[in-house]
Amino acid sequence: MTYDVTLIPGDGIGPEVTAQTLKVLKATGLRFNWDEELAGMAAVDATGTPLPDATVESIRKNALALKGPLTTPVGSGFRSVNVGLRKEFELFANIRPARTIVPGGRFENVDIVLVRENLEGLYIGVEHFVQIADDPRAVAESMAIVTRRGCERIIRYAFEYALKHGRRKVTIVHKANILKMVSGLFLEVGRMIAKEYEKRIESNDMIVDNTAMQLVLRPEQFDVMVTTNMFGDILSDEVSGLVGGLGLAPGANIGTKAAIFEAVHGSAPDIAGKGLANPSALMFAAAMMLDHIGELEPAERIRNAIITTIVRDGIRTRDLGGTASTEEFGSAVAKRAA
Ligand code: NAI
Ligand code: MG
Repeated sequence: MTYDVTLIPGDGIGPEVTAQTLKVLKATGLRFNWDEELAGMAAVDATGTPLPDATVESIRKNALALKGPLTTPVGSGFRSVNVGLRKEFELFANIRPARTIVPGGRFENVDIVLVRENLEGLYIGVEHFVQIADDPRAVAESMAIVTRRGCERIIRYAFEYALKHGRRKVTIVHKANILKMVSGLFLEVGRMIAKEYEKRIESNDMIVDNTAMQLVLRPEQFDVMVTTNMFGDILSDEVSGLVGGLGLAPGANIGTKAAIFEAVHGSAPDIAGKGLANPSALMFAAAMMLDHIGELEPAERIRNAIITTIVRDGIRTRDLGGTASTEEFGSAVAKRAA
């Protein structure tokens, strides 16, 4: 079996971390047919647009993409690549796992997967100013749209994810005490779905501000978390922070028409081309991609290879206090993943 996957190496450190990730994927013995496409600054330079039609077409055909970080071009007229992809492929779920890897940090036992709704809520960006007297910006008004279908889809995804990955609990995060409708609907649907799964998956619900505090006090109480767009945006960064850093944080964007896997970090122009980047985040993203296509054993092998290389072999890139280059680290992980 050969998997067809769209590959976007991306900008800055993107090509460096992508090369090492491909090496590790190859070491697993799985076969891929990579369709390399452009996006971001690399695409602007080559084609004049950050998201060429050919890239969109390739993802449409393969329904699967591995994507490096993209430098967001500043300038008018460019559509945002991430928003473009999210809309085009209805990428409704953003999944961010965070797990303690390097011992000796602030928390020893963090193992959280945050599931964020990615298409609805306050982030739809329907907003305007209201003029009062001679002040055209006297009032700013914004609309949040939350649909029952959208809530069902994301919450069910979280419970199914928990089942598939042997997780024990789902926490539904909301602010239904104040936002009685837009957050109340999410909680209502959440409790309904939780009931369906109650014999298989434990669940609870928690108000978002308390959740933010509980995360830094006692993060080990959380397992899978599911929440609406803006709360998810904020909490997912908080969760990544608990386990120390961007070099290790992967993310998945799951949609009805495609799934796109990437590192959480950006193109890191400050270290690009110097062999200093930690490729672990994109490697973990690649492991999520393997989970997604049902290759659970090689996915786990990649994760274990990264962890063993960092923890037991003590081979680390500079961001984790080591001296290994991107390439040296990649080769060590590939050897372990074989
Ligand atoms: P960044 O994540 O690129 O860098 C933040 C800091 O973390 C830098 O000091 C960088 O050296 C370090 N860092 C990031 N990834 C690392 C890695 N793998 N290994 C070691 N150190 C690492 O964020 P920044 O500087 O805010 O953004 C740079 C560019 O990336 C911008 O154009 C931004 O728009 C874009 N970006 C793209 C994203 C995407 O395509 N998904 C996500 C975030 C930012
Ligand atoms: Mg964010």
